Amino acid sequence: MIEVAVMGYGTVGAGVAEVIRMNADAIARRVGDRLHVKYILDLRDFPGDPNEGLITHDFNDILQDPDVSIVVETMGGLKAAYNFTKEALLAGKNVCTSNKELVAEYGVELRTLADQNNVNYLFEASCGGGIPIIRVLNSSLTAEEIEEVTGILNGTTNYILTSMAEEGKDFDTALKEAQANGFAELHPEADVEGWDACRKIAILSSLAYGRHISYRQIETEGITDVDAVDIAYARAINTRIKLIATSRREEGGIWASVAPMMIGKENPLTAVDGVMNAVMVKGNAVGTTMYYGSGAGSLPTASAVVGDVIDAAKHLHVSIKSDYSAEELTLMPVGDVARSFFVRFKGLASDARKLFGEISDLTKLEGHDGEIGFLTEVMPEKDFKAKAASSDQVIKWFRRGKKEEK
Ligand code: HSE
Repeated sequence: MIEVAVMGYGTVGAGVAEVIRMNADAIARRVGDRLHVKYILDLRDFPGDPNEGLITHDFNDILQDPDVSIVVETMGGLKAAYNFTKEALLAGKNVCTSNKELVAEYGVELRTLADQNNVNYLFEASCGGGIPIIRVLNSSLTAEEIEEVTGILNGTTNYILTSMAEEGKDFDTALKEAQANGFAELHPEADVEGWDACRKIAILSSLAYGRHISYRQIETEGITDVDAVDIAYARAINTRIKLIATSRREEGGIWASVAPMMIGKENPLTAVDGVMNAVMVKGNAVGTTMYYGSGAGSLPTASAVVGDVIDAAKHLHVSIKSDYSAEELTLMPVGDVARSFFVRFKGLASDARKLFGEISDLTKLEGHDGEIGFLTEVMPEKDFKAKAASSDQVIKWFRRGKKEEK
């Protein structure tokens, strides 16, 4: 029997207990032993819950129990999660987490600590919910120089944007639904302002390029300014607005960003709707590969955590090797990245041409007299921003896509 403790009995923690129960036989076949949840740590009581008897309020019950070899951290937040994780690793216990905030902030330190103690700090569930993407980067695409990681990495914002575009719902209603479904963060600003996707692309990019990338370096914009008119323009030029998290290796270095972008129908990410997430990883030998699945929610995220628990159970006192470095990589400024931009503009096409040069996909929406929408030529973002800032006719703009997608 392999004893497991779960810290945090919220959406994901409850899912972990459920997946371990529901798939007990299949898991036992794969591990060669049975997993058993011995403790669930939470501040709250859960009267009437089937796992009520496992609840403890004292972390020391877990820490001091030599039988517990795997600890699941689904608490979220930084302070207590960091302290408990550190103590568990120092005590020779494996830790499996869904806490992207903690992994983005202290992942390097905690992985090093795990290595030093011959245990594992595993975080498959920190990015893309149930999508196996960490393992792809750590164990599958290991023959590659990774050139790009691009994805939809937040289920809540994708759910909101899809509901707005496909069902005409307003932002607040869609957000409330995402919260009711257990997709959103405790403080949903982390979703809608893009911070959650930012941490995830920082984690994935650090693994992809082999050096630590601080999420603080990543230029991040959320979806709170996206409105129904923007969505109508996007449709008119045969694109969709998606919150895209991306990092890419170019001649001048590696850059990363999170922003709502208008992506074209030729981009498979346009078909990723609702809570689904997808990640495209481009390697220099394999070309583009893509991974798709539920980006949030109890059981999908728990599935990724339990996958890590199984891996930990198979490597109880062996640190699984993977390529990572604590040395921080300095990103290239996004201002140097060349792309096309979609602009909402008050005035005539001739004024727009004076400001931006050639324009295309000129669009007028019914009921929006005096306003046009168009695409610019490909230009470095800093040049575009300087032009846009110099004119009071520019209402709003979006990044269109990659240079070659214009
Ligand atoms: N709030 C996150 C999301 C949960 O919506 O994607 C999964 O990390």
